[in-house]
Formats: sequence, structure tokens, C-alpha cells
Amino acid sequence: MKIIKVKNYEEMSKKAAKIIIEAVKNNPEINLGLATGGSPVGLYENLVKDYKENATSYKNAKSFNLDEYMGLPQDHAQTYYTFMHENLFNHIDIKEENIYIPKGDSANASETANEYEELLKENQIDLQLLGIGTNGHIGFNEPGSKFDGKTDIVALTPETIQANARYFEGNHDLVPTKAISMGVGTIMQAKTILLIASGKNKAEAIKGLVEGQVSENLPASVLQNHADVILVIDEEAASLLS
Ligand code: GLP
Repeated sequence: MKIIKVKNYEEMSKKAAKIIIEAVKNNPEINLGLATGGSPVGLYENLVKDYKENATSYKNAKSFNLDEYMGLPQDHAQTYYTFMHENLFNHIDIKEENIYIPKGDSANASETANEYEELLKENQIDLQLLGIGTNGHIGFNEPGSKFDGKTDIVALTPETIQANARYFEGNHDLVPTKAISMGVGTIMQAKTILLIASGKNKAEAIKGLVEGQVSENLPASVLQNHADVILVIDEEAASLLS
């Protein structure tokens, strides 16, 4: 595991963006695995800036998002579909038909999950971006998720619902309780994994990821078993590492 420590959120965003930009330049037909949440917002800003200034092209790239809330219409302000378009896709030259996000409003969610898993078998992800939940979740794979788990319907823990309430007028009753998420096993199929974390509230999870026991109780600890992982973490997120 390669650990890159940086000063703060801004530096994390720049450094991680640089890694993605290099990867896209080296392989214009790259399959990117993308993430949502507060962590990658600054990174995506840097990708957009680079696209405007240097014209790094995504027209031959494909993107596959980790997860999507269930039960919200696709155009709802808080779907990950909306998030990705507003923060990245609307501002670069990726083709709409090359953008894949699980459909959270599908009439048959388990079929949607199975189809997404099949899609990922046919399109191995070259570079998977991850954030991390305060409880060590990756994607929406909460503590206790099986390490060999595939794309599936998952239930959000009260901790995650609480953490995400800030995007829903601070009202946890408005946060969906379920999502469709790549499984831990799905995520582990990626060739390279880039995980970013910033802030004190991630320090415990980062310590568990790097130095803890590999355990399904802390889903991110599975990354100790992956051959090519890069962490870009800021001083606060790294503050509990020995
Ligand atoms: C969300 C997402 C994860 C994300 C995590 C951390 O629930 N499903 O993909 O990594 O929580 O979010 P944030 O970056 O906002 O702290």
C-alpha cells in the first residue's frame, strides 16, 4: 500500500487529481471507477480545471460509479447521478453513453444490481476512486459486508444516514435507507485503487484500514489484501497512524 500524506483537503484534491489525469493520459480508453461524497468534490474541481486548461480528454474513457441511493427519482438533487453530472460529467467531454451509474429508481433493483455486476465483469476497472465512511465503509458496504460481496441492494447504517443527512436539509428522515452498491468483492477487482480521506473524523477509519486487523467489521481493511492501493490522506486523517 502506498501512502501519500498531504497537508489538507486542498492538497489531497490536487494530488489525487494528478494521479487520475496521468492515468487518463497514459490510457485514454481507461475504465474509471468513480465515487461521490464530500471527499472527491475538490478532486473533481481539479479535473474540470485541467480539462479547461490542458484539454485532457475523456471522450474514449468509460466511468462506473460505485453506488446510488434507492428510491429517489434520477433527477432528484441528491442522487449520485445528479452529483456526478453537476460536479464532473457536465464539464468534461465524457460521452453520456459511457457513463454508468446503478439505477436507484429501477422497478427491479436486484436485476439492476446483477446487470451492473455483469457489466463490471466485462469492463474491468483500471482505476477505482474511493472515499471512506467514518465507520470504514467503502461504496455503501457497511461494517459486516462480505469481502466477496457483489453489486447488491444494501441497507445504510444509522451512522451513515446521520453522516449523509447534511445533504438532505440536515433531516435524517429524508435520507434513503437503502442503496445499490458495488460489493467489496467487486471493488477488489479493480486494477488500481485510489482512496482519499481528509479530516479528523476519518482518522479512526484510516488507522483501521492501514494498521488494523483485516476484518469485515471494517470493510476498508480489505484493501490490505489488494496489490495496488494508493492512499492520499491529509494530516488530520493520518493523525492516528503510528
Ligand atoms: C458515502 C458514500 C461513500 C463515501 C462516504 C464518505 O455514504 N457512499 O462512497 O466515500 O460516504 O463520504 P464523504 O466523502 O462525504 O465523507
